[in-house]
Amino acid sequence: MREYLPILILGAIIGVFTLIFVAVYALEKNKKETMGFERHMADGEIVKRLLRYAKPYYGQFVGIFFIMLFSIGYDLISPLLIGSLIETVQGDFELSYLLTMVIIYAGILIVSLICTYAQAMILQKIGQKILSQIRLDVFTHIEKLSHEQLNNIPVGKLVTRTTNDPNSISYMFTNILVTLVKNVMVIFGVLGAMLLLNYALTLMVLCFVPFIVLFTVIFRKFSRKVHRRVSDATTDVNTYLSENLSGIKITQIFNQEERKMQDFLEKSKALGNAKRARMFVFGIFRPMVYMLNISSVMCLFYLGCKGYIQDAHWFGQVIDSSVIVSFYMYISKFFNPIQTLAEQFDMLQRSFASAEKIFTILDMVPEVVDEPDAIELEEIRGEIEFKDVWFAYKPGEWVLKGVSFHVEPKQTVAFVGSTGSGKTTILSLICRNYDIQKGQILIDGIDIKKIKISSLRRHFGQMLQDVFLFAGDIRSNIVLRSEGISDEEVWEACKYVNADSFIGKLENGLSEVVRERGNNFSAGQRQLLSFARTIIHKPSVMILDEATANIDTETELLIQDSLEKMKNIGTMLIVAHRLSTIQHSDNIILLAHGEIQEQGTHQELLRLKGRYYQLYTLQYEKQQIQNG
Ligand SMILES: Nc1ncnc2c1ncn2[C@@H]1O[C@H](COP(=O)(O)OP(=O)(O)O)[C@@H](O)[C@H]1O
Ligand SMILES: [Mg+2]
Repeated sequence: MREYLPILILGAIIGVFTLIFVAVYALEKNKKETMGFERHMADGEIVKRLLRYAKPYYGQFVGIFFIMLFSIGYDLISPLLIGSLIETVQGDFELSYLLTMVIIYAGILIVSLICTYAQAMILQKIGQKILSQIRLDVFTHIEKLSHEQLNNIPVGKLVTRTTNDPNSISYMFTNILVTLVKNVMVIFGVLGAMLLLNYALTLMVLCFVPFIVLFTVIFRKFSRKVHRRVSDATTDVNTYLSENLSGIKITQIFNQEERKMQDFLEKSKALGNAKRARMFVFGIFRPMVYMLNISSVMCLFYLGCKGYIQDAHWFGQVIDSSVIVSFYMYISKFFNPIQTLAEQFDMLQRSFASAEKIFTILDMVPEVVDEPDAIELEEIRGEIEFKDVWFAYKPGEWVLKGVSFHVEPKQTVAFVGSTGSGKTTILSLICRNYDIQKGQILIDGIDIKKIKISSLRRHFGQMLQDVFLFAGDIRSNIVLRSEGISDEEVWEACKYVNADSFIGKLENGLSEVVRERGNNFSAGQRQLLSFARTIIHKPSVMILDEATANIDTETELLIQDSLEKMKNIGTMLIVAHRLSTIQHSDNIILLAHGEIQEQGTHQELLRLKGRYYQLYTLQYEKQQIQNG
């Protein structure tokens, strides 16, 4: 005994210190940068804000803690039970006693299983609630952001902020925190139980800690590398597939199937290799860690059975077969949590990074907001006035320079001018997608900043060049989400915009299926549907931004006619490149470099013989040539 005890004590001290050191290191290491994302918020602040989401469930978390104590109880008690069973079996044992022990063991096992199940169920429920709360917060906040702010965040990022990141936070509440706490408690619990059984054997077990920690650290270094390789290769294959499947028609037309096949085979092979590498790493390290486990067990048997530390008395501790069996079971219960702890720390850091990304979005102050005294507008007549409006997307680069015009209710006004002259900008300023820097925009004589944004936009109907149709049927695409619109009203709207003739020819009429993005309809048909969709909501101001581009001559006549009819509904603002579309407008505004160059009716502008006259004659001649 004398020779062994100092060595064991030294080894145990080294073991405990490595464990503490590695734990602290793991907590600190990924703090600044997790998965290529640089962190700026302090952990304390993130925790404080995360706790706010958990607050409604504090009671349940306390409940879970107690349930967890039960399942840990099983981990701690079962080796002792088995140990005492062994002891019983050795002597001249009674079957009834053995049976009682088995029943107790089974009872504890069942209770622990039920506890684990209950814990998982409650946690899942809480997790789902927290998840949807965070998603809702992020989503509603994103909706409040101005167009300018949204332009600065790629859509892909927004999707991640509302899907993956909340997931990772909810996972933290449901899995990481609980296993973290549980593992730490199991480590200390097992340590305590072992000390009570035999302190000398416990010191022996602690001597193995540096090795297990070292192996775990090395293994995780390699495993992370191969994991990344596999996930990169998978992304590669997926992007290649999605890109090429959507462009498959082009591939066929250009007869590129063979070459694409080769490309795909290469990427597929890379994925296969990455997966093999991963298998190799796991295949090498798992047995090695297991070997450590076995080595410590062998030491246990050697030291325990040979009687070298038999005389280490401490509160009358002895080493007999039951102690050895209990230790045998405790050893793996002690090593497993150490191995998983490092992983848990890592995931905790990843969740913190996700939380910070989400909070960064939530901290963005919406630029276009309702003023405190903003009013609700029930009805508007549709009078619009721009008073010396100056606007820039980027400070100093003026896009609109002192634009002033006036539109009477129910008038139709057209904007013309070369690409980039500011037509779309004017239309989006009326909807207050951006705030202007100087001047005033008035609707019915009221500054739009004094009107609630939701109330303002409700009176507008926008028709754009790219019509977005949702998968569903024609009816659902026209009424959108509004309730209580009868089929008669839908037909009426369709008739009004001349969409009835083509819908009437369809086999299922209004119930005809619309495929994703509406690709079973022509551009002109989609446009007519968007007109119907707009007028059924009876907007006071209709905005058409190049809605009539890309349309064949036949549909153009239909659209021309429906535009004439739509003029009776409300004020109409049109941007169109084809001047024939707009020549009946009440006013035509010609823009150049963000300034109004000419304005007046078609006839007035022709008489002026200015820029509009030039444009018109140019288009007219082209038309003549096309018509032969
Ligand atoms: N979101 C934006 N951010 C920065 N500049 C923009 C943005 N949208 C448009 N612009 C710029 O504003 C000018 C006017 O654009 P726009 O109103 O779209 O012209 P039009 O509709 O007449 O073709 C262009 O020079 C364009 O580059
Ligand atoms: Mg435009």
